Amino acid sequence: MRSLQLLGVLSLLLVAQESLAFKAHDFKTCSQSGFCRRGRALSARAKEAKSSWKSPYSVDPGSITVASDRATFTAGVKSSLYPDIKFGLELRVHDDGVVRVRMDEVGGIRKRYDEAAGWALIAEPTVSKDIKWTSGKKNIRAVYGEKKENEIVVVFEPLKISLLRNGKEQVVLNGQGLLHMEHFRTKTPEVTHTEEPAAQEGEEVIANSETQVVIKAENPRAWFEGDTEDDWWEETFSSWTDSKPKGPESLSLDISFPNHGTIYGIPQHATRLALPTTTGESPVFSDPYRLYNADVFEYLASSPVSIYGSIPVLHAHSVDSTVGIFDAVASETWIDVGRASEKSTETHWISESGILDLFLMPGPTPEDIFRQYSKLTGTPVLPAHWSLGYHQCRWNYVSSDDVRTVQKRFDQDDIPVDVFWLDIEYSEDHKYMIWDEKTFPDPVEMVNDVAALGRKMVVIVDPHLKRTSNYPVYQEASERGLLVKTKSANDEYEGWCWSGSSSWIDFFNPAAWEWWKGVFKTQKSAKGWSWTQSTEAVHIWNDMNEPSVFNGPEITMPKDNIHHGGWEHRDVHNINGMLFSNLTHQAVAARSDTPKRPFVLTRAFYAGSQRFGAMWTGDNLGTWEHMAVNVKMVLSINIAGMSYAGSDVGGFFGNPEPDMLVRWYQVGAFAPFFRAHAHIDTKRREPFLYDQPYKGMMRDMLRLRYSMLPVWYTAFRETTVTGVPVLRPHYVMFPKDPRGFDIDDQYYVGASGLLVKPITAKDVTETTVYLAEDQVYYDYFNHFAYRGATKGKDITVPAALHQIPLFIRGGSIVPTRERPRRSSTSMKNDPFTLRVALGKAGYARGDLYLDDGETYSHQKGQFVWREFIAEKPMKKGKTIRISSKDLGSAKPNEAVDGVTLKTFNPANEFAKSIGDVRVEKIIVLGITTKPTAVRIEGGEDLIWDYTPGVACSDKKEGIASVLTIKDPKVLITKDWAITIQW
Ligand code: NOJ
Repeated sequence: MRSLQLLGVLSLLLVAQESLAFKAHDFKTCSQSGFCRRGRALSARAKEAKSSWKSPYSVDPGSITVASDRATFTAGVKSSLYPDIKFGLELRVHDDGVVRVRMDEVGGIRKRYDEAAGWALIAEPTVSKDIKWTSGKKNIRAVYGEKKENEIVVVFEPLKISLLRNGKEQVVLNGQGLLHMEHFRTKTPEVTHTEEPAAQEGEEVIANSETQVVIKAENPRAWFEGDTEDDWWEETFSSWTDSKPKGPESLSLDISFPNHGTIYGIPQHATRLALPTTTGESPVFSDPYRLYNADVFEYLASSPVSIYGSIPVLHAHSVDSTVGIFDAVASETWIDVGRASEKSTETHWISESGILDLFLMPGPTPEDIFRQYSKLTGTPVLPAHWSLGYHQCRWNYVSSDDVRTVQKRFDQDDIPVDVFWLDIEYSEDHKYMIWDEKTFPDPVEMVNDVAALGRKMVVIVDPHLKRTSNYPVYQEASERGLLVKTKSANDEYEGWCWSGSSSWIDFFNPAAWEWWKGVFKTQKSAKGWSWTQSTEAVHIWNDMNEPSVFNGPEITMPKDNIHHGGWEHRDVHNINGMLFSNLTHQAVAARSDTPKRPFVLTRAFYAGSQRFGAMWTGDNLGTWEHMAVNVKMVLSINIAGMSYAGSDVGGFFGNPEPDMLVRWYQVGAFAPFFRAHAHIDTKRREPFLYDQPYKGMMRDMLRLRYSMLPVWYTAFRETTVTGVPVLRPHYVMFPKDPRGFDIDDQYYVGASGLLVKPITAKDVTETTVYLAEDQVYYDYFNHFAYRGATKGKDITVPAALHQIPLFIRGGSIVPTRERPRRSSTSMKNDPFTLRVALGKAGYARGDLYLDDGETYSHQKGQFVWREFIAEKPMKKGKTIRISSKDLGSAKPNEAVDGVTLKTFNPANEFAKSIGDVRVEKIIVLGITTKPTAVRIEGGEDLIWDYTPGVACSDKKEGIASVLTIKDPKVLITKDWAITIQW
């Protein structure tokens, strides 16, 4: 009976899902979006006019005021088209050289949305103390930087802002004259829609798609603004009408990078890492890149169409410079990308609303950009250690017994897994947090059964609340007035999502924050409903938070809906999803007395989302194409600040053949977030269901991932401090090597020296890997030593189905834990293996970061951070010395999460708790002659084994020699040194 009911629910869902199947016409193209069309028309007119085009915007030199901080100046700006309209410009140089450029309308009839940066930034940036603005007749400028290498220049007429380094232009704003801030205006009778207009002399009737509008022929602004009031006051798309009560308020700005031929960033789009062009002679895409968080069902594998999240950050790169921009805008934004020459890029940003609030990041290296960007918006949060293990999800595990059985099957087959997930069907009528008692009669016991084996559960909580009186979460939100309102600002907005008729919490309302935190308490509370049928082992998945509204325009909320503070949804759309995951993160952290690190997965995101957890690339397809583009998308998200990213392993839609699934596990094992997930309509595909050899291949990949958890965790530690991403594409590692600029199918994991190239095509048996430097790279598995070259070199490597091309860069020491376990928690006291991959100079280095993995005690100094070095000491003759030393004391400012620990004690409680943990094996690659002795410095001889290389020398490629020290008798938390002698 129960299963029949379930089937009924499932088939209903299938129907719902099918009716959602992606059709291009669900989403606007630029030409269907009024302000984008206006922006592109402006640029088309500028192009046509060529050199006679002149921006009407200029700075009034008499209005310049330098603030008392000396780093900031403000000035009045006007447009010759509208002499009565005033704009204010503000430039401010931060202490790290970032320049913030703000422009807003002053004294307008309304206020533009100016809070986007407030949600994205971690704090108000501090300004530089060494700025001196020098104002002349034609411009105002400041030269700054350690070597006075940077210069910011604002030319008054026409307004142009340039950032230069050593006299060379890096970023130029309004160089092409496309700046246009549409000021607020009143709807005049002149432009109201007329019925059957009769053209008078001197007037012309212009037809637009909806109505006819009479425009004065002598309209002097037409050259710049166009001669129609194109969708100024109302806009229709499909069956929806956007009432646009504020009228036109878009912002257009060209941003050029005259000395940078490659750009990266502005995720999320399904495309290559180095962004293809959208304008020019033969653009790759005909539409601009769009940033408008959207639930795009079955998104295309190569497209500038916006999908679930938006991070308006861009890197412009060349052999000698990387610069970046962060555009703190939350409204729908379109970005055209063109190439003026091979070495120069032009972009055009068109946003629907909001002030201009732009951060220019001077670089000059990718690492500098990461530092500058994360100083603004924060570094990724340090994830709970267990969450870097493997996550098993599907839509849906249908009952608590189903969950128990799946867990048992993993254990029977010795396949490691840390987390079981529940999609929306756990809930009664999709009232999230209310268990469906028919199928999940014992939720707490089920979670406890999972937790008893050291594992966790992640349960979905979507932002749409079923509008029904028997749903306390909805009831409370409604009674407290916490729901998003319709355009009237009085009524609760009602839309359609999984739970049928639904409303959405307005997280812009601070009153919603404390209430939401209360909802996640696992104890009963006098203040309101709380989720007592949950435990601390339950973490949260925030899906559908673009927000997805099945019956809304473009599957989202109407833009004229009203949020707290009176802002329209249009103004805040791209931030909306981040607020949901932010508050959920806070709520999960706040539910326990000893706060534990929450895990929150979000589908929608914005700049700053990295502070709240992980993201994934949404509903991908089980195709090779999607597998390949997902790798690129995860790289793109990484360089845009959000390292904790992954994609649905297996592909959400479809039933992958076993070989494809194996490849997908390889992709997942080398993504920061590793989760298998599948649509409700797919066949079950847990690894234990497969025959050999596939099952074994998937298990091997999972074991490889688990053995490398120390590498992932250490890489995450670094990104929490420096912002340098966990996944590092070639341009980040080798910024001066142009051959690597377009490479987005191979990448490095943190600073570990691991280089990986997941295979994303069928029937591959070998592949080429690009080595950018004159260095040795060892095959991780068979120790074959490949040699790169100064100018870069392609190597051909084996890549049969069971193989993933994985290399250790010479000069690296990689710590792993190689005892196969069922979950990461059972590895806590496992010994370590160190792989010492000697580089060309006979040197290697690596580090290892450990803490309790789930509390915040690391912020109080409860951690272990070691540095391993292998070197040839100059005076000691033929010796290689491998040593371990404490890094926590050596680098107190780099502790973790940016917390400064001046008094770090390497013998802290956590370190004591793993005081017995040994290094069980050291493998040294690349020693060309057999040693005579290996001993602990100042101590005993060790047992070792040496396998000479095959056809391999300092210069020749071949299988490297391997020295294995079986039990080096050293502890992971202690200082030690081992010498290898001849
Ligand atoms: C859409 C999500 O992208 C997908 O992962 C999930 O399974 C469904 N919503 C159902 O919750």
